[in-house]
Amino acid sequence: MNIMIITASPNTDGLTAACGKAAKVGVEMGSALANMISLNTLNIPSCHACESGWGTCLKEHTCQVKDDFQDLHEKMSKADGYIIITPVYWGDMSESLKSFIDRLRRCEASNGDKNSLFGKPFICVAAPGGTGNGCISTLASFERFVDHVKGVKYDFIGITRRNKEYKLVTIKNAANSMVQSLTV
Ligand SMILES: Cc1cc2nc3c(=O)[nH]c(=O)nc-3n(C[C@H](O)[C@H](O)[C@H](O)COP(=O)(O)O)c2cc1C
Repeated sequence: MNIMIITASPNTDGLTAACGKAAKVGVEMGSALANMISLNTLNIPSCHACESGWGTCLKEHTCQVKDDFQDLHEKMSKADGYIIITPVYWGDMSESLKSFIDRLRRCEASNGDKNSLFGKPFICVAAPGGTGNGCISTLASFERFVDHVKGVKYDFIGITRRNKEYKLVTIKNAANSMVQSLTV
């Protein structure tokens, strides 16, 4: 079993990275493979809104803008479940994640129940600063994305540096529980 853990922060030792490590421990406790992806190391700029708004995403379910998107899209298609972790920027997911998700949902949501994410579980994590501002709005953005691709909402978790002691444990346990749910 293959679980993709996607982090979307430029910081390699910040809160997002700590969440990614906790998720990996939880996935591996369930004897699944954790496929770690750091979006900020990839070249996936924002959607071009080709032609009059839709490009090949609408009918061919692929993106015609060639960059690192294609390889990651294929990996997403083959995975069994997803853990996506973002810092909160401006009350929303980070730019690197927004760019990827915008392009991914165009390709997949346009394919209805045949989309490659259909029925697969998602754990979504928002990591704001100390105020916690924008945590809920970021999780709401995640919820719309999971709705659009008809995924299963396994969990939506907010974490800050104030509560990370127990929320990192929650992320590990959620990851492990999601793997177990796929095993039975
Ligand atoms: C451009 C930018 C915008 C931010 N906007 C918010 C925000 O709206 N709400 C918030 O609580 N923190 C905000 N932050 C703080 C980060 O969300 C917070 O420090 C986060 O935990 C950083 O994660 P990292 O350690 O993985 O980089 C912002 C940070 C940056 C760089």
